[in-house]
Amino acid sequence: MKGIFPINKFNELQTPFYYYDARVLRETLACVKKETAQFPHYHVHYAVKANANMKVLSIIRENGLGADCVSGGEIRAAIKAGFPADKIVFAGVGKSDWEINLGLDYNIFCFNVESVPELEVINELAAAKGKVANVAFRINPNVGAHTHANITTGLAENKFGISLEDMDRVVDIALEMKNVKFLGLHFHIGSQILDMGDFLALCNRINELQEKLFARRIIVKHINVGGGLGIDYDHPNRQPIPDFKRYFAAYTEHLKLRPGQELHFELGRSITAQCGSLITKALYVKQGTNKKFAILDAGMTDLIRPALYQAYHKIENITSEEPVEAYDVVGPICESSDVFGKAIDLNKVRRGDLIALRSAGAYGEIMASGYNCRELPLGYTSDELV
Ligand code: LLP
Repeated sequence: MKGIFPINKFNELQTPFYYYDARVLRETLACVKKETAQFPHYHVHYAVKANANMKVLSIIRENGLGADCVSGGEIRAAIKAGFPADKIVFAGVGKSDWEINLGLDYNIFCFNVESVPELEVINELAAAKGKVANVAFRINPNVGAHTHANITTGLAENKFGISLEDMDRVVDIALEMKNVKFLGLHFHIGSQILDMGDFLALCNRINELQEKLFARRIIVKHINVGGGLGIDYDHPNRQPIPDFKRYFAAYTEHLKLRPGQELHFELGRSITAQCGSLITKALYVKQGTNKKFAILDAGMTDLIRPALYQAYHKIENITSEEPVEAYDVVGPICESSDVFGKAIDLNKVRRGDLIALRSAGAYGEIMASGYNCRELPLGYTSDELV
């Protein structure tokens, strides 16, 4: 065992694979519970898009969270993992008819609706089943988040949500419909947000909108503020559990809830990122002209975040204790963007060494692809490897 990894067990497994430290996941969930315990009107839904590994989902469900889904497949995964349907919210700008029908059949808690045409279809499909669908509107709050451009979603020019100006009109349309019940408002400003000021800006915007609705004597029962809390990719060991205290405090202190209102959160990355690592083997060390390459058996097909977002994942040689040397750490895929890191200091790498890419429990395994006819990586939890 070097550090936190059961290396003996790893040696028996086919690489690359994802390893989830169940202790870290449970401690993270315990922290979420602790920070929300005094607020029975707070409801945390886990954003299944971050990681839908059944074993991971089951641990999350055991800890009482609801599920935030963005596809029929995710609804099925959540149900299979035992999440109660009345704790499932369903978002997404492009819900297919079959996906809406699936949500209706399960009587999920709420559809987060992103456009009037979608609202019309939900109303129609619910009518055909003789049901009334709970809906919340995803409002685009026009609040920027200080994060990567590809994962900010709350600005006016994003495809997501209904614009601020359209809110009143859309609410009126919903109130006229027979087969939808207007339940609340939904927001999400982006992901990997570490500046609590961004959440505070969202609170201020929601407060304004609530005033506007209140002036029309409308008080919605549910407010859903989405997810977005970021994690420390640089220091996964120093800060394995994100700062949930400050995160929830931002909402507790700045969001003005009316009596009886319920507040929903959709956290993905902050729940699962730090418990997961991609474990891969060094295939070759290749001497270039001016640098050395460590060529791994994992590539961008297994963990696409570095190639897609230039994201940093801490890389560690978990086999070797030898003095460090600098490597460009790359995968085997036929793409020049298949690079995990450049000039990375690693304990001297030899063929067969196990290399861990840390903080990969969110948007890792779930975003893997079969490009180059590669097999999808499997995921194991520490519970299984004892
Ligand atoms: N709610 C909605 C409506 C969302 O769109 C998202 C994420 C979440 C909740 C969860 O956000 P989180 O708590 O995980 O930040 N693949 C990218 C991240 C995409 C996030 C998409 N939406 C990445 O690897 O960084």
